[in-house]
Parts: sequence; structure tokens; C-alpha cells
Amino acid sequence: VKIYIPGDSGAVALGADRLAMRMAEALKARDLDAEIVRNGSRGLYWLEPMVEVETDKGRVAYGPVKASDVDSLIEAGLLEGGDHPLSLGAPEELPFLKRQTRLTFARCGITDPLSLKDYRDHGGLTGLTTAVAMAPEAIVAQVTESGLRGRGGAGFPTGIKWKTVLEAEGEQKYIVCNADEGDSGTFADRMIMEGDPFVLIEGMVIASIATRATKGYVYLRSEYPHAISMMNRAVEIAREAGILGKAVLGSNHAFDIEIRVGAGAYVCGEETALLESLEGRRGVVRAKPPLPAHKGFLGRPTVVNNVISLASVPVIMDKGADFYRDFGMGRSRGTIPVQIAGNVKHGGLFEAAFGMTLGELVDDIAGGTATGRPVKAVQVGGPLGAYFPRELFDTPFDYEAFAGKDGLIGHAGIVVFDDTADMLKQARFAFEFCAVESCGKCTPCRIGSTRGVEVADKIRAGIEPESQITLMTDLCNTMKFGSLCALGGFTPYPVMSALTHFPDDFRPAQISQAAE
Ligand code: NAI
Ligand code: SF4
Repeated sequence: VKIYIPGDSGAVALGADRLAMRMAEALKARDLDAEIVRNGSRGLYWLEPMVEVETDKGRVAYGPVKASDVDSLIEAGLLEGGDHPLSLGAPEELPFLKRQTRLTFARCGITDPLSLKDYRDHGGLTGLTTAVAMAPEAIVAQVTESGLRGRGGAGFPTGIKWKTVLEAEGEQKYIVCNADEGDSGTFADRMIMEGDPFVLIEGMVIASIATRATKGYVYLRSEYPHAISMMNRAVEIAREAGILGKAVLGSNHAFDIEIRVGAGAYVCGEETALLESLEGRRGVVRAKPPLPAHKGFLGRPTVVNNVISLASVPVIMDKGADFYRDFGMGRSRGTIPVQIAGNVKHGGLFEAAFGMTLGELVDDIAGGTATGRPVKAVQVGGPLGAYFPRELFDTPFDYEAFAGKDGLIGHAGIVVFDDTADMLKQARFAFEFCAVESCGKCTPCRIGSTRGVEVADKIRAGIEPESQITLMTDLCNTMKFGSLCALGGFTPYPVMSALTHFPDDFRPAQISQAAE
């Protein structure tokens, strides 16, 4: 019998390691024959640690399980899927999972993340096996036709980026995976690296064949120690199995991957700052052009793709461009793993085709706020994303639809706030965040962010609030149009959306009333 206890850092933070230890002791003491597998998370974080047992009737889940529940679970017949107050039934029947379309996260939380056998048994490596027999141009065409767009935030067509690198002059080309997942409320990159690392490796190998690159790097943030360790082990296993190395799957294509760890700067998620850091320098943004696709790592043509973009490629190569493109709406094709966080009842990872509305996600799937109070605002797309009020809850998850409402999907993290949120404070926070994380290269961001904090403080203090609001708007325009990268350029999104949709929070009368 296999007992699955997630080793995902979200589950570990909720006691999964302690639980696994206690389970092992209890099984041994009772002389019970069962194997504990540390899988990834299914992404239902309010139920973590979620334990699953493989029985004759299929998998049965229990959660959230504490170490102190182990004895009663075993006594209730855990190994046969017996009933217990923590029983959740078949995990795939849980509405939060049942309503998803898991293409990228198909195996996450199901398989043993470091078992290549499990990976193969669940459809892994079929995409790469197909790609190895194809010409680079044909792979690029398939990825382009699938409609896949960069999941890091900007939504640039992945196939076109690959085509640029394939056609760029240069003997040496690189694949760089941006795993510096810095947006608040996002965890999709971490989850896949901890729960199904081979899918990222497979995606990178396919990208390397498509662009004739021979070396890859995963730039991983130091705040993710579990993911670092999983990726390092998975790369070693893939190397031993001939998926990486001088002859990928016996072909004449050579490709290897190295894991590099960042030192904790948000701006190093910006691709050119990331490349600077990867080359051993301070993470400062480079002016574009030249694009990394032309002159990237060490001045060579480089694909810089987000984890989820790369991890979405194997299924496209396996099932075809049409299969993937059939999901979604408008120019947003395929599925998007939405990360639901903040003040919600059901926080976690929800992968679905583009097109579901923000309201469906917040009210229905996330179940509203954990506090039970009304939702006031939802920040979509990380700390540089706009705050959406309830009036905009009919906005569908689609790059263009969000842009049309002065927002962005970004890396698809949503953070929910109830009616106690103070939007002036949130606007101030955006400026403060930008001031702390600014690389300092350009003036609008370096100086503007600090001036923004001062302006927010003056509004709070009731010092000429009307002219300060005008100043804040001016400042946002300067930052939006004058900054070199998205950090300074997008800080106006949270600020201006707070000001536009929640003007009362910026009025001294309201502020003083709230203070009373
Ligand atoms: P961008 O629009 O400048 O570029 C997008 C990508 O397309 C880049 O890789 C760029 O090199 C490439 N590209 C553009 N034109 C090209 C061409 N003609 N040929 C080939 N490649 C081309 O956007 P940027 O500044 O890279 O990213 C901004 C986004 O990052 C924002 O939308 C934001 O949501 C997101 N972001 C994500 C974070 C995360 O934690 N995942 C954190 C902060 C921001
Ligand atoms: Fe650096 Fe900010 Fe300018 Fe970006 S906008 S280049 S982070 S100073």
C-alpha cells in the first residue's frame, strides 16, 4: 500500500514532515506494510497536509491531517481507505479539483516527483520522444500554432520567441528558465518544481532542440530551498537516464542543465537583470534592444522563459497544437494555473482554460473570504497588478480583457482583500515596494517611488489632499511611460486602480472617520 504525504513546501509549512515521521513510526510499531511517498501538492492548500492512500477502490484522501491524527486514522482502517472524520473521499471528485483542466499540472500531487517510472507511466516523455524526431522548425511551428504565450506575465508568444533564437546567428545558444517567482501570492512555479520537476526538464530539452541550444540554466530563487533540492536531484536523475547529456534520448542532440540560485532580489525576475545576475554581476536591468533572444546570456542568443511556459510545452508536443489551442478564449489559448491567495476560504492552485471570470474564481471557487466579510478588492498579477473591485468581477481571464480594464493577468496570482482593506495604504505599499526593490538604473523608478511614498503620507495626513492626488497621478504617468522596465513601469497599476476604484479611501474625511 502506498500512502502519499506531500513534501511540497506549502504542506511542509503546515506540518507534513512531522506527520510523515509520525506515520512511519506508527506503521512500524504496528508492523504494517505500507510505503510512504512524498508527492507534490494537489494545490488545495486549506486541506494540507492532505494524505492519500491507494486502495482497491482508487485513491482516498484525508485532510487536513495533523501528526496527532495518525493513530485514529490507522485505527479507522487508513490502509483500506476507511471512514474517518477527516475523510474527503476520492480526491478527483473534490469540486475544487473536478472543475479544473489540468494539462500542465496533470501529474502534480499524483506521482512521486523523483520517480522517472511514475513520470513515464503518467504520460511523461512522450512529448520529448516526439520532438527528438522532429526538425527544430517543425517544433517551433507546433508551439506557435498552439497559441502558447509566456506565462511569466507578459504573454509574449513562446513560438515566436523560439523562432527568433533559432534564426539568430551564433554557434552557442542557451535556454534560461526564469524560476525567480517573486510575485506576492504566486506559487505555481514552486509547486511544479517540487511536484513534477521532470516536466520542466522535458520542456527545457524540447526548447533546446527547437532552438539548437546546448546548455540550459534554471535561475531559482534562494527563498525556495525545497525546489532547489528537487530540481538538482531531478537533473541528476535525468542525466543518468540519458534525457540530458551528450546524446539526448540517444539522438545526436546534446543538452545539459545547471541550477543557479539567486540571492533574493525581486528585480532579478526581470529577464535582463536575471541574465546579469546569472553572469555573476549585480542584478541591474539592461536596456532592450538588444533582446535576449538576440544577445542574452554572455551575449549569445538566449531563450528566457518562465517555468510554466516551459512546463506547458511537453503536453503540446504530445497531444498536438490543436488540442492545446482548443482550450481558452480570444488570443489566450490553452490553460492557465491561477494561484488563489489572500483572504479566501479555499486558497490554492486552480488550472483551467482561459475565460473563467474573476467573480467565478473569487466567489465560487475560492468560496469568498476566510473572514466571512464582503470582498472589497482583488489584486491580480502580483504586487504590480491592478486592484479590481466587485464591479469588474465579470472580467474573463484573458490577457486582452484584463488589459482592457487597465489591469494585467501577470503570472496569474490573485490576492483577495475584504472590506477592512485600506486602499490608500495599499497604494503606499506599491510605491514602497518599488522603492525597496528598484535596481536604481532609471530615475522615474528610483526617485519616483520614494516621492510616491511621501505623497501618500501627505494624503493620509490631510495636507493639501487634492493637489497631492494630482501629483500622485502625474507621478504615475511619469513612472508608467518613463521607466526602463516593468518594476517602475507597472507600479502605477496598483496605485491608479486603488485611486480610481476606491476614491473614498483617499479622502481625508473618510480617512479620519475610519481612524475613529
Ligand atoms: P516584455 O513585453 O518586454 O517582454 C516579454 C518577453 O518577450 C521578453 O522575454 C522579451 O525578451 C520577449 N520579446 C519581446 N519582443 C520580442 C521579439 N520581437 N522577439 C522575440 N522575443 C521578444 O515584458 P517583460 O518586461 O519581460 O515582462 C513584464 C511582465 O513580467 C509583466 O507583465 C509582469 O506581469 C511580469 N512579472 C512577473 C513576475 C513573476 O514573478 N512571474 C514578477 C514581476 C513581473
Ligand atoms: Fe531599475 Fe526600476 Fe528602472 Fe526597472 S524601472 S530599470 S527596476 S530603476
